[in-house]
Amino acid sequence: MTLTRKGVSPISTVLRAEQVTKIYGNKKRRTYTALQDIHLEVQEGEFVGIMGPSGSGKTTLLNILATIDKPTAGQVYINDVNPAVLSDRKLALFRRHALGYVFQDFNLLDTLTIKENILLPLALERTSAREIEAKVQEMSAWLGIESILDKRTYEVSGGQMQRTAIARAMIHQPSLLLADELTGNLDSKSAKDVMQALEDMNEAQKRTILIVTHDPFAASYCKRVIFIKDGRLFTEIRKGSHRQAFFQKILDTLSLLGGSFDDLSTPRH
Ligand SMILES: Nc1ncnc2c1ncn2[C@@H]1O[C@H](COP(=O)(O)OP(=O)(O)OP(=O)(O)O)[C@@H](O)[C@H]1O
Ligand SMILES: [Mg+2]
Repeated sequence: MTLTRKGVSPISTVLRAEQVTKIYGNKKRRTYTALQDIHLEVQEGEFVGIMGPSGSGKTTLLNILATIDKPTAGQVYINDVNPAVLSDRKLALFRRHALGYVFQDFNLLDTLTIKENILLPLALERTSAREIEAKVQEMSAWLGIESILDKRTYEVSGGQMQRTAIARAMIHQPSLLLADELTGNLDSKSAKDVMQALEDMNEAQKRTILIVTHDPFAASYCKRVIFIKDGRLFTEIRKGSHRQAFFQKILDTLSLLGGSFDDLSTPRH
């Protein structure tokens, strides 16, 4: 018998990283500690940003959380499953169902239409044509790309391509959406559209999202931002009710952090 009230599901931990350490190199070459004792938890429905200077270990951490790379020490649990213990075949299946991944350079297929790109993950499974159509319509409505479904990638803007990539990553309703510098190749208007779409999906659909970004503007759409420095957790801040105030708080924390932030328009020391 469960102790939870009927119809009320307890908030669950989608992601837990325990004492994650990553050391690059091997016995012959000098090694480099890219991450040291990172502890991180993300609850269902959170929208989390990870920031840090160039080389601080953000991509290394994201790749470990995405099960693309393995930690040298420590554990990662996604929905209480440790992907490191799964066989290659089970890991591929687990990754496909539990995780969605968005890249900086969109990673769309040029020979397909926007719609075909979005439905690709479902086409790999035995989903009926009717269900696919319904899901494509639903996702594209959320992301404001219904009108470009029949176009090809070279006929749409960078922001539209990135929203297409998000639709593709979310169409199978993964427990966690991960993105690395998803606004890195976008102008500020497109970056705003993309972040707004993620914020909408987080708020209205309780989608759990974790992004890595250099960009304080993009980070200001998150509800919590974690800062890392030299591979270690530095601090974290939470958004109050105003995005503008959070943006300023992020800038202040970045200046405390030091290091290089290529995307900042104002010089910082
Ligand atoms: N395959 C690798 N082998 C050796 N060192 C690596 C490897 N990948 C990354 N590193 C090093 O680990 C450190 C962290 O790299 P990482 O790519 O995680 O940084 P980042 O925070 O994502 O930086 P950026 O903001 O520039 O994208 C860097 O010093 C980098 O040179
Ligand atoms: Mg990186």
